[in-house]
Parts: sequence; structure tokens; C-alpha cells
Amino acid sequence: MTAFTRELLIFLHLLGAIAWFGGMFFAYFCLRPAAAETLDPPKRLPLWAATFGRFLRYTAAAVVVIAVSGLAMLIETGFRTAPTGWLVMTALGLVMMLVFGYVYLALYPRLSTHCLASAWPAAAIVLNDMRRLVAINLVLALCTVAAAVFAR
Ligand code: HEM
Repeated sequence: MTAFTRELLIFLHLLGAIAWFGGMFFAYFCLRPAAAETLDPPKRLPLWAATFGRFLRYTAAAVVVIAVSGLAMLIETGFRTAPTGWLVMTALGLVMMLVFGYVYLALYPRLSTHCLASAWPAAAIVLNDMRRLVAINLVLALCTVAAAVFAR
């Protein structure tokens, strides 16, 4: 692998991580309180369904980019010689991807279905489950970046 290829991989890896982490931060700390403050459930829940529909699709692309670029760099260095932080990052990254997969494939379709049926209490329960999982992934993302940077 040339030095340029390696730089390109880390560039893509960081773009993916920034989009995913930053998107979750914005959703959790900015959009969530603002929507709760200003919108009633019949407006707020469809807004979330429409927002997640877009965010989760972009995040799926980011997850593929992060996994492919990360594994390519890790395999080139070798698992045995890789710094501990990289292995911790890989493990945490995989857990984050599983959590993401569950939100995207199991919870989001339920949120959409409940919103289409105007079943607001049921939609609110699913949205709250999604909120908890996003909070978990935010903490995991923080730990992943810390592992990447501090355990080199
Ligand atoms: C399958 C999952 C992942 C694998 C295999 C992986 C692998 C790697 C590798 C090998 C590097 C080192 C590149 C180098 O310095 O040459 C790296 C850097 C980095 N990764 Fe990951 N990564 C994964 C997931 C993530 C996730 C989910 C995040 C953030 C949420 C993340 C954030 C970072 C950051 C910030 C760096 C730069 C660290 C630095 O150079 O100081 N990674 N990753």
C-alpha cells in the first residue's frame, strides 16, 4: 500500500466517523430538545421519521466506508503489531455497527409504520428506544475516538 493510499483511507475513515458522530450529536443535543419544545406529537414524530429516514441512509454508507477503510488499514499493519487502541476501536466500532443495524432494520421501520397509522403513543415508545440506543452509540463513539487517539 502506498503512503497516498493510506492517507486516502484515513481521510475516508475520518469523514465517515465525523458524519456519524456529528449527526448523532446534532440529533441528540440540538434537534431532540428543540422538537420537544416546539412541536406536538402529531408533528414531532413524523419529523423524526423523516429525519431518521435520511440520517440512517447516510449513516449506512458511512458505516461501510468506516469498516472497509479501517479493516484495510488494520490488515495492512497486522493484528499482532497493531496498537491496542486500534483493536479497542475495532471492537467498539463493531458494537456501534450492531446497535446501528438494530436501529435501522428493526426500530426505524416500526417508527414509520406507527407514524403512517397516526399511532402516536406507540410511535413515541419506539422513538424513545431509538433515543436510548443513539445515546449508547454516542458514548461508544466517544470511547472509540479516545481509544484511537490515546492508546496508539
Ligand atoms: C470496524 C471498525 C474500525 C476499524 C477496523 C478501525 C481501524 C482504524 C485504524 C487501523 C486506524 C489507524 C489509521 C492510522 O493511523 O494509520 C484508525 C484511525 C482512526 N479511527 Fe478507526 N476503526 C474503526 C472504527 C472507528 C469508528 C467507529 C470511529 C469513530 C466513531 C473511528 C475513529 C477513528 C479515528 C478518530 C482515527 C484517527 C486516530 C489517529 O490517527 O490518531 N474508527 N481506525
